[in-house]
Amino acid sequence: MQALILAGGQGTRLRPLTLTSPKPALPLAGRPFLTFMLDWLARHGVDEAILSCGFLGEEVARVLGRSHRGVKLRYVNETEPLGTAGPLRLAADEGGLDDRLLVLNGDVLTDFDLSAQIEFHVLKGAAATLALVAVDDPSSYGLVPTAASGEVEAFLEKVADDPSAAAPPTNRVNAGAYVLERSVIERIPPGRPVSFEREIFPGLVGEGLFGHPFDGYWIDIGTPERYLEATQDLLTGSVESTLPPRDDSGSLVLPGCATEGAEVGPLSVLGEWCTIEPGARVARSVLHRGVTVGAGAVIEHAVLADGVTVGPRARLGPGAVVGSGARVAGGAQVPAGARIAPGTLFAAPTAPDGRRFPPVPSAEEGRA
Ligand code: GDD
Ligand code: MG
Repeated sequence: MQALILAGGQGTRLRPLTLTSPKPALPLAGRPFLTFMLDWLARHGVDEAILSCGFLGEEVARVLGRSHRGVKLRYVNETEPLGTAGPLRLAADEGGLDDRLLVLNGDVLTDFDLSAQIEFHVLKGAAATLALVAVDDPSSYGLVPTAASGEVEAFLEKVADDPSAAAPPTNRVNAGAYVLERSVIERIPPGRPVSFEREIFPGLVGEGLFGHPFDGYWIDIGTPERYLEATQDLLTGSVESTLPPRDDSGSLVLPGCATEGAEVGPLSVLGEWCTIEPGARVARSVLHRGVTVGAGAVIEHAVLADGVTVGPRARLGPGAVVGSGARVAGGAQVPAGARIAPGTLFAAPTAPDGRRFPPVPSAEEGRA
């Protein structure tokens, strides 16, 4: 079976991480995110994945290569963003697509029973079958009310964007996993951006569009909060995966890290070659490769991209996200939820309450 994975979005909500790495290639629990999706697809009989790339597409190909655990990988690159449906039309026009295939949003971590969805699709003789998942707040997703038969009654994309919209008619949303027949591809106009959610699916209502609800783990990793949540769920085993064993604090520390005298955990990930100096603390956080944390620094519920350096006694508030190669000066306090751009220096020697931190010696700062 073939799967086309949409991997060309800009991942704006995950900036600054996605300024230097496209969302599908971003490390999650120490591996490129998409490898989790490919493992799941392979478990359900997918042997070829077509990766639809645009933004930083060459990086996706560099990280994932030509195959992953028996799944052959092929790339279709767009020169202009084609939305969510346009890329499928482009891939079809390039040739080599089966008459029935899967289409996936490339930012979803899940282990639901895709084989059951395919069976349902065949049984119904559907043109398209969408996986549906119940969420607490459906307003930022595609709402999909269905009849008892599973036929989709409407497709309402992101009602939160429309203040005049009525209350959500259901909490079941589009989970970003579709089984499609070729007849659907033929409805996608060529040569321009086309949205499944705003154009193709609303037009297919009543014409063979079905929804298949599932129970099981599902998360869209497209915001820092959900990226951290997905990480913790992988570490605690709430979602099926092939992650290496974690340590006593539930953390994953990859080879080449030095952590002697530091406190790492609970539920943290240190990518390869990180150094956490004595007296520093890293809790519920994700550090990508080659991150250095100075003595006595405290990092809680934050994400630090490749090569970030945090000076001694600095503190990063919950939800802080630091871009690749950025530096946080010794003693600095990074406010909760702050975003620090790649390659920049964050230096705030004064705490929000006006208290001054000890000056950072220049030699140390030069190192930081
Ligand atoms: N190739 C390509 N080109 N891919 C794109 C483009 C594009 O122009 N735009 C977006 N994508 C990819 C993204 O990389 C992502 O994998 C997927 O399409 C969905 O885009 P998002 O930007 O993540 O959409 P969303 O999360 O706001 O909403 C979508 O997902 C929800 C579930 O997570 C919609 O499909 C909703 O209906 C759905 O509920
Ligand atoms: Mg998304």
